[in-house]
Amino acid sequence: MDFVFLEDSEWKSLGEFISTKWRNKKLVILCDENTETYCLPRLLAENPDMLSGTEIISVPPGESSKSLALVEQLTLALNDLRIDRNAGLICLGGGVITDLGGFLASVYKRGIPFINVPTSLLAMIDASVGGKTGVNAGILKNQIGTFNHPEGVFVYPAFLETLPILEKKSAYGEILKHALISSVENWNHLKDIGELDEIGPKEIITSMQVKAEVVQQDFKEGGVRKILNFGHTVGHAIESWSIATSRPLLHGEAVAWGMVVEAELSKSVGLPLEQFVEIEATVRNLFEPIVLKTSDLNDLISLMGADKKNTNEQLGFVLLKNIGNPVFDQFIDSEKVLSSLKKVFEL
Ligand SMILES: NC(=O)c1ccc[n+]([C@@H]2O[C@H](COP(=O)([O-])OP(=O)(O)OC[C@H]3O[C@@H](n4cnc5c(N)ncnc54)[C@H](O)[C@@H]3O)[C@@H](O)[C@H]2O)c1
Repeated sequence: MDFVFLEDSEWKSLGEFISTKWRNKKLVILCDENTETYCLPRLLAENPDMLSGTEIISVPPGESSKSLALVEQLTLALNDLRIDRNAGLICLGGGVITDLGGFLASVYKRGIPFINVPTSLLAMIDASVGGKTGVNAGILKNQIGTFNHPEGVFVYPAFLETLPILEKKSAYGEILKHALISSVENWNHLKDIGELDEIGPKEIITSMQVKAEVVQQDFKEGGVRKILNFGHTVGHAIESWSIATSRPLLHGEAVAWGMVVEAELSKSVGLPLEQFVEIEATVRNLFEPIVLKTSDLNDLISLMGADKKNTNEQLGFVLLKNIGNPVFDQFIDSEKVLSSLKKVFEL
């Protein structure tokens, strides 16, 4: 992971990178209105010489900024600023900015170099690493995108001081996932911490490393990269279902509960009962319970991709043979999935 630089309080890696590798480049910083307020002043204050003359572009925060319409507007804005292929784009923000900025950098004048300076916990441990960039097509997430690595990822955990607690909590779901698919040691460490506040540079770098190592083996998701989807078949369904409820769930919360259901299913491929119990207890301890009705279950199965009229239809999962030993392309009858949902949500 030689492209990832973790800095706790010093800013020298980014300064060194810019003054050596990007010495003659015109720089553009892409941020959203929140990272412009909370993170940009800090970045500029720490790097006054290097960043003087840099163009700043700020977009509205939130998922709606991941759109082709905004990419077109940004293209025109960059063109007005006379940004050419010799420029460098710095994506300063959460996953929305690293996805949007990475995509913009992939297509603007057929491609300009970019680096990520992630400011949310999710972007630090997940979105900024792995080279997937993209925008949404209407309600369809990430349907337009590229595989394109940034030239560097510069992580400053101090940015997390201003990140809302719910955003941190959501990222915790993905941190737990990285531990579960990587090793018992990583899992035990997190399980023993048990507190969101205790997540610091050590845990961030470990989690990034898990993702980077998986991506290194399978950049374009032909096989093993699929293990990063543990918890996501059920998690995505719960997330979509919750949109119509009084409390829409954050992605990481939905994934955390998705992991409990998929851990329950994992007993069929050998996950020991005591490991399932640990996973379930950890999620119950960290995340608010989800209240489902029996009538919601068929909707969840449909959202997972199965037609509820066809009860024998199979659904694809990543399962755990053991903590740290995931297997992908596991197909399970929707009836069995229904039964695991009932057990976990006590219906
Ligand atoms: N490319 C990938 O591999 C990958 C992986 C996971 C997620 N994603 C994408 O990432 C996005 C979610 O990322 P996210 O959770 O970071 O969301 P986000 O970028 O919307 O950030 C969450 C909120 O926190 C604010 N924020 C960010 N940093 C802040 C800071 N330091 N202080 C104060 N406020 C701050 C943002 O303005 C935003 O309002 C989704 O679009 C998802 O699809 C991509």
